[in-house]
Amino acid sequence: MAFKEEEFRYCKDSSFCRRQRKFDGQDDRATYKLHNAHLEDNGVVAEMKNALNPNQPLKLRATIYKSGIFRIEIDEASSAKPRYRVKDVLVGDISQHSSSEGAMEDITGENDGLWEESFKGHSDSKPNGPESIGVDFDFMGAKHVYGLPERGSRLMLGNTRGEGAARDEPYRLYNLDVFEYEPLYGAVPILYSHRPNFSSALFWLNAAETMVDVEDGPDMKRTHWFSESGVIDVFLLSSDTPKGVQMQFASLVGTQFMPPMFSLGYHQCRWNYKDDADVRMVDSKFDEYDIPYDVLWLDIEHTVGKRYLTWDKHLFPDPEGLQHDLASRGRKMVTIIDPHLKVDMGYSVYAEAKRLGFFCKNKDGGDFEGHCWPGTSSWLDYLNPEVRDYWASRFLPANYVGSTEHLYTWNDMNEPSVFNGPEITMPKDLLHYGNVEHRDVHNLYGFYMTMATVAGHKLLRPGRRPFILSRAFFAGSQRYAAVWTGDNGARWDHLASATPMLLQLSLGGIHFCGADVGGFFGNPEPELLVRWYQAAAYTPFFRGHAHIDTQRREPWLFGDVVMGQIRAAIRARYLVLPYLYTLFHMAHTQGLPIMRPLWMEFPGDEVTIAMDDEFMLGEALLVKPVVSANTRSSNVYLPSDKDDIWYPFRNGQTPKEQGVFTSLWSRFRGQTGSLRGQAQAGGKTISVDSGVEQGIPVFQRGGTIIPTRERARRSTSAMRADPFTLHVALNVREEASGSLYLDDGDTDEHTAGGFFLFGLKFQSNQLEYRQTEGSGFKFSHPPPALERVIVYGITKQPARVTLKRKNGGGSELEFIYDKESAMLIVRKPNVPMNEEWSISFAK
Ligand code: NOJ
Repeated sequence: MAFKEEEFRYCKDSSFCRRQRKFDGQDDRATYKLHNAHLEDNGVVAEMKNALNPNQPLKLRATIYKSGIFRIEIDEASSAKPRYRVKDVLVGDISQHSSSEGAMEDITGENDGLWEESFKGHSDSKPNGPESIGVDFDFMGAKHVYGLPERGSRLMLGNTRGEGAARDEPYRLYNLDVFEYEPLYGAVPILYSHRPNFSSALFWLNAAETMVDVEDGPDMKRTHWFSESGVIDVFLLSSDTPKGVQMQFASLVGTQFMPPMFSLGYHQCRWNYKDDADVRMVDSKFDEYDIPYDVLWLDIEHTVGKRYLTWDKHLFPDPEGLQHDLASRGRKMVTIIDPHLKVDMGYSVYAEAKRLGFFCKNKDGGDFEGHCWPGTSSWLDYLNPEVRDYWASRFLPANYVGSTEHLYTWNDMNEPSVFNGPEITMPKDLLHYGNVEHRDVHNLYGFYMTMATVAGHKLLRPGRRPFILSRAFFAGSQRYAAVWTGDNGARWDHLASATPMLLQLSLGGIHFCGADVGGFFGNPEPELLVRWYQAAAYTPFFRGHAHIDTQRREPWLFGDVVMGQIRAAIRARYLVLPYLYTLFHMAHTQGLPIMRPLWMEFPGDEVTIAMDDEFMLGEALLVKPVVSANTRSSNVYLPSDKDDIWYPFRNGQTPKEQGVFTSLWSRFRGQTGSLRGQAQAGGKTISVDSGVEQGIPVFQRGGTIIPTRERARRSTSAMRADPFTLHVALNVREEASGSLYLDDGDTDEHTAGGFFLFGLKFQSNQLEYRQTEGSGFKFSHPPPALERVIVYGITKQPARVTLKRKNGGGSELEFIYDKESAMLIVRKPNVPMNEEWSISFAK
């Protein structure tokens, strides 16, 4: 809301953008031809020449990988100073090659700003002159494109050029500290196109300022990509399904880090919890009011004058004691640690780094200084591996005095945000490790910072999983940190925009993502706050946060009714944790998103193509956030690929066995005919009661099985020994499948097979639970048991329900059946969840 438009650059303010946009490719002399094409190291290598620069050839390499990915690299054939190539983002054995340079004649007639330019009094010296690169790519047959996070717009990207274009600025990827305008804090240069039975994507591996134009062509989307510097390094991905493309992308940039279980619980944050007493009060109120939560966060005011990795001892006289106390109730703390270090020789983190020459340098070689929260500051150069080691060592309790193993980290302001810099960031001619200009690596600064912080967590807790939240990110950041969408406002439209933004991040591979619950700026009216909790409970990262100038908004401050609604929303989150954790395992091992646009699950359903106000949580749950005041009912589109049916999901109402049928379905009565109790046919929009006291519409897809834990607890660690419930939602063929992932929730043992992955299958009136992967792990408590199975859409009452255990034994189980709702509840199978079993429903 405080956004000053004039502070930020538009295309007209950047010489490379003006030149690239002016170039229309019509000049024949500019057309490149390939020469001497030949095979080399599994790729085709050729020289590229045009009539304008016949003596300054480019070098092209085209490679096809086994996964079907097609890569094109273009660089100067020889150069006095090699162009920067992004490092550390690609994973696996996709190798790097290098090529080189020679100045190109400018053919746009746009000579202004080639060798130096300035913006708002900041001058950019451009010691290497104009270096911009660009290519056009046409997506044949495509009508829709998505991606290019992070921006606050709709999921589907509108045109930036041509008749009827939605906007006239190109999409810009340049990490900046600004909300409500783009670009935002992070960048993933990937663009998807999707139509039934064909999905493709383009990944542009370049961390300099990048722009993308989108326009319509004859039966195609045309895109024009350009970056201020670096090389052309493009990956073309394609598959018959959107998930196939996601998995290809993950094979390039890595998958989601497997988070510790506590980090999937609810996080309570505010700028700022003032002191020890305040933290203890907040913590105890959660227990007093029986609201689960896992992590208490401290913002910048807990430090000595914003000197990170210190504690203000007047406010927090015994930080270790405080952390241990929270930990005794299974809870953790997070402290904020920003990248700007206060210029102060009395501050050891700064003084030591200064002595070692670890700061980013200005163009003349001196330590760069700028302005941020603590006043005059310098910024560590995280591109330097030695600096990352130095940073990592700061997390050891000997250096971070007052920290314990229960403390985790929030990396904020890492775009980086420099209050007095051009566009609130670093000058482009600033220098990094290896004499690399900031221009080349701007979008990677936050990525490298989180990489270093992860190393710190590994030193602090060897063999255990880190948890870091970051504001800035680049492709691959999911390997290191969770991401949140930054400074939103307590406004209904910002609640609405959270869904498309998180979907966009998810498409970018940033799967552990969330938005500040309640809105960062301003004071949410209670109804907005409740709606925010209801929606965010189903997003991967779930944290309440607020600006220092806002009124306190902990759930108990709004009276019993509102608090009860917030409590129900948070409990709904804890209920689905076993399912969510299993989805994280899939994201970690296969690169599948946790939050998915409907078209990812229903690629054949064209209605879903433009939808971004509903989302799928994994393959089983459809969520429709309520984003306007006084809503009593919502229109929900239930997609269908073929014969899909949907069941209302319980939003956290714990079944009271008998009586559950009526309370469960009353919201949906009269909406459907006879189809499997209250199941709804897919492929149509239905109206669902969704008053604030009822929660938002959530549906389970027929054919899926969701594991839950339904006892209300104070935190995830208190749930470790709790029994499971299985929600078996049958499809029209009376079949369903799902899975359950179990590990110790904390260590790296899972990477060496220390986990259980069980497959669940309902078929021919039999539910089977079989281990599909993992060699198991040791429970720190008796293995949790199965306490209940609920089958939805079962049209005939079975005569008997029998449990058969793998190691012999079994028993007849108690059950109740309701014909009208076609629902059956099996009670107390009480079989441990680390062994195989089957339950048969004899006709
Ligand atoms: C900006 C962050 O986006 C916000 O979440 C935080 O509270 C402030 N910095 C203060 O640290």
